[in-house]
Amino acid sequence: MTAPRPSIKSEPLTCTIGAEVFGVNLGHVARDEALFAEMKALLLERKVLFFRDQDITRAEHVALAERFGALEDHPIVGSDPQYPGLVRIYKDENSQPEHYENIFHSDGSWRESPPMGAVLRCIDPPPLGGDTVWVDMVAAYADLPTHVKAQIDGLRARHSIEAAFGAALPMQKRHELKQRYPDAEHPVVRTHPETGETILFVNGGFTTHFVNYHTPNNVRHGVDFAPGANDLLNLLIRQATIPDHQVRWRWSKNSVAIWDNRSTQHYAVQDYWPAVRRMERAGIRGDRPF
Ligand code: SIN
Repeated sequence: MTAPRPSIKSEPLTCTIGAEVFGVNLGHVARDEALFAEMKALLLERKVLFFRDQDITRAEHVALAERFGALEDHPIVGSDPQYPGLVRIYKDENSQPEHYENIFHSDGSWRESPPMGAVLRCIDPPPLGGDTVWVDMVAAYADLPTHVKAQIDGLRARHSIEAAFGAALPMQKRHELKQRYPDAEHPVVRTHPETGETILFVNGGFTTHFVNYHTPNNVRHGVDFAPGANDLLNLLIRQATIPDHQVRWRWSKNSVAIWDNRSTQHYAVQDYWPAVRRMERAGIRGDRPF
């Protein structure tokens, strides 16, 4: 009889979201079916996992992320030339006033099928600051008042890359970006395809407006950009800012975060300028939200 495998050791970091995992080499996890399955189960439960001292190669980083699914690059943020799915989030004194990450968002919600998750490794942390905050959007939904849950049931919203990454581009380039990546429409409340959990799925980074708000109950004129709609959208977007649903991670060199992008949002704190902060993110393709 073979001895049972030692299971992954982890410590929850808050009551709802986040766990730090100990004694694991992520290079091995990429090659070990059973270990990967255990880690994936923990990820579904805690939504974001943290690891320290992962001196892995870029190939191992990519291999680990590919265990979850195929990777995708980013149309604006550049990738590693050898590994197109490995996006370089490199900041230094020349990055100001670039504030893209300084807002709660789920990655790529402007895609028809937004990423299911990501594996982010810290290459160079700033001496101080540059933390990242993740939010449990299942808890953020559960915490909504009953009448708001009833109001948003069945609502859909528009998500736009043009309104976010395109904002700083000249008009021509902005329009080209929108043509290549047309806005996506997603349910405001989605169901997690693996856990069945109910998730609030609008974010301050990419969600622009509701697309089916104009019922006779909601507006006098048949428009989606009604003030009432904006108030409701802003209320939902603000749910991500409630600390009760958040976990904050302090980076060190070679620390890694793996998150479920379907059930979380995140915010990269930009308090460290003009110091250097270099991160590499492997984004994993996801499904169309339902
Ligand atoms: C991201 O927004 O995906 C990157 C987060 C970070 O750099 O901490």
